[in-house]
Amino acid sequence: MSRSILSARADFPILKETVNDHPLVYLDNAATTQKPELVLQAMDDYYRHYNANIHRGNHALAARATQAHEDARAKVARFLNAEDPKQIVFTRGTTESINLVAYSFGDAFIHEGDEVITTQLEHHSNYVPWELLCQRKGAKFREIPFDENGELNLEVFKNMLNERTRIVALNQVSNSLGTVNPVEEVIRLAHAAGVPVLVDGAQGVQHLGRDVQKMDCDFYAFSSHKMYGPMGIGVLYGKEKWLEAMPPFLSGGEMIDSVTSTKVTFNVLPFKFEAGTPYVAGPIGLGAAIDYLESFDLSELQAYEDGLLQYGLEQLADIPGVVIYGNPKQRSCIIPFNLEGVSAYDVGILLDTQGVAVRTGQHCTQPIMDALKIPGTVRASLALYNNKEDMDALIKGIHRVQKILKR
Ligand code: ALA
Repeated sequence: MSRSILSARADFPILKETVNDHPLVYLDNAATTQKPELVLQAMDDYYRHYNANIHRGNHALAARATQAHEDARAKVARFLNAEDPKQIVFTRGTTESINLVAYSFGDAFIHEGDEVITTQLEHHSNYVPWELLCQRKGAKFREIPFDENGELNLEVFKNMLNERTRIVALNQVSNSLGTVNPVEEVIRLAHAAGVPVLVDGAQGVQHLGRDVQKMDCDFYAFSSHKMYGPMGIGVLYGKEKWLEAMPPFLSGGEMIDSVTSTKVTFNVLPFKFEAGTPYVAGPIGLGAAIDYLESFDLSELQAYEDGLLQYGLEQLADIPGVVIYGNPKQRSCIIPFNLEGVSAYDVGILLDTQGVAVRTGQHCTQPIMDALKIPGTVRASLALYNNKEDMDALIKGIHRVQKILKR
């Protein structure tokens, strides 16, 4: 039986903090989410009771730590509905997962004259690795533009796909505008042209569906720290046929099978892609975060977060001088806005004096800001522990910012 989302707030000790003499109103969840007790305890338990290096030692602690690490991998596989745990590669985060594919897949399958398609809605982490790959290889870097609503133009995409296209990379949700992208439609179109697709799930995995078999994506990347887990651990899921065909990304211990001065052979999946001592506490904490997220019903979670988002958007739209960016048919948990004539940075600083934490600036999406012809936005972003009072505090904070600036 699923827990009520309204009970979630009590699970996060940090939400009891005060900031600048105000109760913390944390609305920077797209940058990172806070961590529930369950996650803090799982990591503390590992370090206190069974800290050891894994896959190497034959003592009791090593065996227990190895088991916990591999159990976490199996849990991630089940969470994503992957066919097999060996398709789950642990990385430092979404950025490293995407770089792994850009370097490794890129090395094997992308050559001079080939084409890579990404979108104008990407975070730099799903843009720059492809741009640099294209520069290294003499390939063509292409991007699907977004329209006045902040939605991808799929007609343009259809015309972009051709026999030289080698991969398409897009996010499930834009970290900057909150647009929920039609990933299944993009995948269907790309597959019809024989092209694999990488989905950046960094802003989608904690809010939306994440069934990789249903999506039929070839690669799926996400970070633990944006879904209530620890920082510094992330996941790359890949279809087995691709992961088997791709060369290693980083090299060193663990990823080898045999080493001589003339020949190196590689370990089996997923270890081929996991060189060096892994961050053992990371997957253990991520596993606890998955347990936590799964204690709520996904459709209830979506309805709750969506209700809060709509409430916030409506309240904000009623304030004269507020500009909200994008108007996509489906938006997830992101409110991007500006106050006319005021820099986003100043708004952020003044909100912070009232205990309200938001992010300001380009949000690692300069192509979006350039297209909108603005230097940046204020971004309020939601998580499952936010509530109507948080939205009201944001709105009250904005009124106060306007009052202060009028003086
Ligand atoms: N990618 C994170 C964000 O959008 C840091 O804020």
